[in-house]
Amino acid sequence: MCENRCSCMNACLAWAGGLAGAVLFALLLHFGVDLVYPGGHKAPVPAPVAASVAPPTPAAPAPAPSTPAPVADAAPAPAVSQPALAASGDAKAGLKIFRQCVNCHTAEAGGKHRVGPNLAGIVGRARASAAGFKYSDAMKSSGEPWTEALLDTYLTDPAKAVPGNRMSFKGLAKAEERADLIAYLKTLGAH
Ligand code: HEC
Repeated sequence: MCENRCSCMNACLAWAGGLAGAVLFALLLHFGVDLVYPGGHKAPVPAPVAASVAPPTPAAPAPAPSTPAPVADAAPAPAVSQPALAASGDAKAGLKIFRQCVNCHTAEAGGKHRVGPNLAGIVGRARASAAGFKYSDAMKSSGEPWTEALLDTYLTDPAKAVPGNRMSFKGLAKAEERADLIAYLKTLGAH
């Protein structure tokens, strides 16, 4: 097989290198398992049944310690903050968002109507009930009071919530902004 000494040597060296590599790899694997699970691979020995079940476990949980940590950190954050925001928005932040409404709405009690009706006391006020404002038929189709939930739906997408109403405002996509705005609207006095 070896045509000369040199090529034979090379073949032998390659073989020896491969063997050394394999042994090194096996050793690393062994100590690696020992590091992650000190003595763990010895535990299943007494019970033959456990021994056949055990081998998959050292491999599977190995990446676990690193991956769940960031997930556990990230997941509860929105879960905790979302309901809290819905329950109590920040009226100060809401006042800033209300700047998007002031071209068409006044907020103070007894304020005049603009393109849209005065919004004093709007939370709990019957829909389309501001005296002296000409509402669209769509808005007048229901006289139910503006609850916080209804305002939230309306302000998300006015055209979709009350089809055919005349408020040309695209809506506030962010739940946090709507919660803040509604918190501000709640501070407005009665009409
Ligand atoms: C481009 C003008 C315009 C803007 C901007 C606008 N609105 Fe309106 N809004 C209207 C009009 C017009 C109506 C009456 C719609 C109808 O009768 O169909 C209305 C109606 C409403 C109503 C129902 C009032 C009632 O008496 O039943 C609420 C609540 C309301 N707007 C809140 C807001 C809020 C909050 C904002 C800002 C995020 C806003 N609007 C931005 C024009 C506007």
